[in-house]
Amino acid sequence: MHTQVAIIGAGPAGLFLSHLLKEKGIESVILEGRSRDYVEGRVRAGVLEAGTIDTMERLGLAERMHREGMVDNGLDIRFNGRTIHFDLPAMTGRSVMIYGQQEVVKDLIAARVNANDPLIFEAPVNRIEGIEGDKVTVHYEHAGTAKTLTCDYVAGCDGFHGVGRASMPKDVLKTFQHVYDFAWFGILARARPLHEMTYSNHDRGFALCSRRSLSVSRLYLQVPADEKIENWSDDRFWSELHTRMYDTGNEIVEGEVFQRDLAQLRAFVAEPMRHGRLFIAGDAAHIVPPTGAKGLNAAVADVRVLAKALGEFYRNGSTAGIDTYSRECVERVWRVVRYSTHMSALLHRFDHTPMDRNLQLADLETLSRSRAAQTAIAEQYVALNSVKD
Ligand code: FAD
Ligand code: PHB
Repeated sequence: MHTQVAIIGAGPAGLFLSHLLKEKGIESVILEGRSRDYVEGRVRAGVLEAGTIDTMERLGLAERMHREGMVDNGLDIRFNGRTIHFDLPAMTGRSVMIYGQQEVVKDLIAARVNANDPLIFEAPVNRIEGIEGDKVTVHYEHAGTAKTLTCDYVAGCDGFHGVGRASMPKDVLKTFQHVYDFAWFGILARARPLHEMTYSNHDRGFALCSRRSLSVSRLYLQVPADEKIENWSDDRFWSELHTRMYDTGNEIVEGEVFQRDLAQLRAFVAEPMRHGRLFIAGDAAHIVPPTGAKGLNAAVADVRVLAKALGEFYRNGSTAGIDTYSRECVERVWRVVRYSTHMSALLHRFDHTPMDRNLQLADLETLSRSRAAQTAIAEQYVALNSVKD
């Protein structure tokens, strides 16, 4: 089998890339290691930036998002029992959309499958050959058989543990990493959510109240990195959430918990994001702590830059965009990492000295008094990953 662009991974990066390439008349094949059910069931991010919403619309993939997603105009940060409210349209002229990553993934998979465009599940890639030459061979397994796919270019959209980044020569790749010593314990519950997306800084640790619909809450608590989900009964979770949200009455509505997951927090950047005929995009190239809600949006922005570069190449043979892909993405990625680590530093409980804790509270106090500081956060929340197509 031969294609123009082989795409490894059917997460947001790989799926968006396939649709963006198709829009430009470029063929691709997606090879995904897991099953369709597994990929569609993975609960992760929930906040779509303006640029991600625009991309869904332009690709004609936004119909269900507009029906079931929720336009979100606000954001609250609580500390010391007080609330800082961010009015996103007033501060930025834009909003975000609450629409679960797995819903985005389902919509993109359905569109690809309905168009009969190649997307092969349960096809893990184990080796990529020839990235420094003029033709690439991707080796994968499917139904117990070893197979190959040849292509002009290969895009490693295969997440943090994928084969894409691992195929970059060691002497070419530079990596930067910070691993946090805490994690987020997340649940989905059948319960009416808080009116606003609410992040909270509390002496006992960070908490976040988000949502997936008018009747489903997505809730998170900061826990130690080695925490076990079994340590958290539902009663313990709700009681801790009320406390960390400064909820003295019945503001937070409890309900049946039907999903539980633990996400480690890490900041990671790999550069360059291209070597020869291999590109890496999304979590394969960078990971941010989820406090800024940026992981998914950064992945979409990467593949928009990549699709534009490949579009130019197949249209007029120019490699200008291919040559600048990495530089253009990495510059934005560092800003995304800066924003996400800053929000993480502001909102979590660290192994702080009393001095550090007071400085963190002073930062929140300054934020609460300055509309300019609030606007800077609002701008990054709605559109940090804006790129030109
Ligand atoms: P992925 O979604 O990881 O997709 C990569 C795909 O490649 C996967 O489907 C994988 O199966 C496939 N793959 C891997 N290796 C191979 C191979 N060798 N061959 C073929 N296929 C392969 N962000 C937020 O903003 N908020 C959150 O709450 C949040 N929670 C998260 C929780 C977890 C547990 C994780 C891991 C991430 C979370 N993120 C969150 C980050 C966000 O979900 C990611 O940034 C986003 O999924 C990145 O998309 P991607 O397509 O680059 O990678
Ligand atoms: C979510 O809704 O899952 C969510 C919202 C905001 C974040 C992270 C995750 O910062």
